[in-house]
Amino acid sequence: MKLSTAVQKAMNDQIGKEFNAAHFYLAMSVWFAQQNLDGFAKWMRLQSQEESSHALKLMDYLLDRGAEVSLQAVERPKTTWKTPLAAFKAAAKHEAEVSASILSLYELAGQSGDPTTQVMLQWFLTEQVEEEKSSEAIVERLRLVGESPPGLLMLDRQLGERSGA
Ligand code: FEO
Repeated sequence: MKLSTAVQKAMNDQIGKEFNAAHFYLAMSVWFAQQNLDGFAKWMRLQSQEESSHALKLMDYLLDRGAEVSLQAVERPKTTWKTPLAAFKAAAKHEAEVSASILSLYELAGQSGDPTTQVMLQWFLTEQVEEEKSSEAIVERLRLVGESPPGLLMLDRQLGERSGA
């Protein structure tokens, strides 16, 4: 069964959003490295890789279904944030938006009578629970740390322990 035009378009838009997210987190990684917060920088770089892998997963699915892949231009990301807290608040907000976008895509696939795409998107819905949880947890920890440099450095060490993408 061919993908409906609407689902195909929405999937391509989602691929664009995932690549934009990858770029957004890469810009944050650069900013953290410039602040000498290498643990935060590493965490964001891995997050960026994870977003690229999401885009590729969607792209491979379109290829498997014989659908059209139409890559979009990546937006120029913001490059500075006032504080680490501001950066992570932006990341958490972004993840909430991605979750909403995946949910609309899931609903659209349902309306289009495409359960196969819905099953594939279930992985993303579950993944978004983790993504929202991890960024919000870091926002909360940054709030606790406040202006304390030792607290920030401790958090930097913890985030630097993240491995894999
Ligand atoms: Fe691919 Fe963080 O959503």
